[in-house]
Parts: sequence; C-alpha cells; structure tokens
Amino acid sequence: MMKSLYERLGGTKGITKIASDLTDIHMENPNISARYANSDPVAVKNSVATFFITGTGGPNNYVGQDMVAAHRGMNISNDEFVAVLDDALLALDKSGVQQREKEEVLAILYGMKSDIVYG
Ligand code: HEM
Repeated sequence: MMKSLYERLGGTKGITKIASDLTDIHMENPNISARYANSDPVAVKNSVATFFITGTGGPNNYVGQDMVAAHRGMNISNDEFVAVLDDALLALDKSGVQQREKEEVLAILYGMKSDIVYG
C-alpha cells in the first residue's frame, strides 16, 4: 500500500522543517507579510507544523482552531490565498519534495479556500 503523505513528506521531522521554512517565507513575502506583523513566529511554526502533520495522516496533535475560525474576520483576498500557495511550493521545493507530493499538498490546501478567503 502507498505510504501516507505524512510519511512521504518525511514524517514529523520533515514536516516541521517545511512548516518552519513556510512561515519564514510568508514573513518575507511582501504580499502577505503584514498579516503576520504581530505574530510570534515560533507559535505560528508550531501551529502550521501540527496542522500539516495531522492533515497528512500523522499523529493527531493539532490543538489550534479550525480554518474558518482561525481566519474569520481577516477578509483574506484571493491574491493572498494564491500567495500562500506560492510560498507552500517554495517551501516544498526547499526540502526537495517531489512533484506528486507537491500536487497532493496543493490539492489539500486548495480545498480549504472557501473556509479561508473572504471569511
Ligand atoms: C490553505 C491555506 C492556509 C492554511 C492551511 C492556513 C493555516 C493556518 C493555521 C493552521 C493557523 C493557526 C491557527 C491556530 O493556531 O489556531 C493559521 C493562522 C493564521 N493564518 Fe492561515 N492558513 C492558510 C491561509 C492563510 C492566508 C491566505 C492568510 C493571509 C495572508 C493567512 C493568515 C493567517 C494569520 C494572520 C494567522 C494568525 C497567525 C497568528 O496566530 O499569529 N492564512 N493559518
């Protein structure tokens, strides 16, 4: 049987690195960095890592809010959503993640669009 996406992304260690890189890339991305001006990078990295770990078939250790609640009232635009997907691809490339796994991650993230944009 095919390994879980969690395993194919390198398990907790691999995903923790991807989440850390992704948060750093967001904070440098002029299209969205202002959104994180008051954020604690360590806390965001931990939330994003545990969310990814749980969502890709790893241990269920995400204790944050669901995506609607986490982004409610932020009035996030389509362009900002695409910026986050762009950053995700950069972070995945940085870890040498292959095309198939990149497509799976993108599909999962894209599926959350209506929970996040203009909420
Ligand atoms: C599929 C795309 C996205 C996913 C999977 C995602 C995931 C998350 C997660 C897991 C959290 C933490 C929630 C918690 O700890 O309770 C969060 C918080 C946040 N997200 Fe997103 N997000 C996405 C898109 C976006 C976009 C497009 C923006 C705007 C540019 C955005 C801005 C934020 C901000 C500002 C926070 C709060 C950070 C903080 O706690 O300081 N997110 N997101």
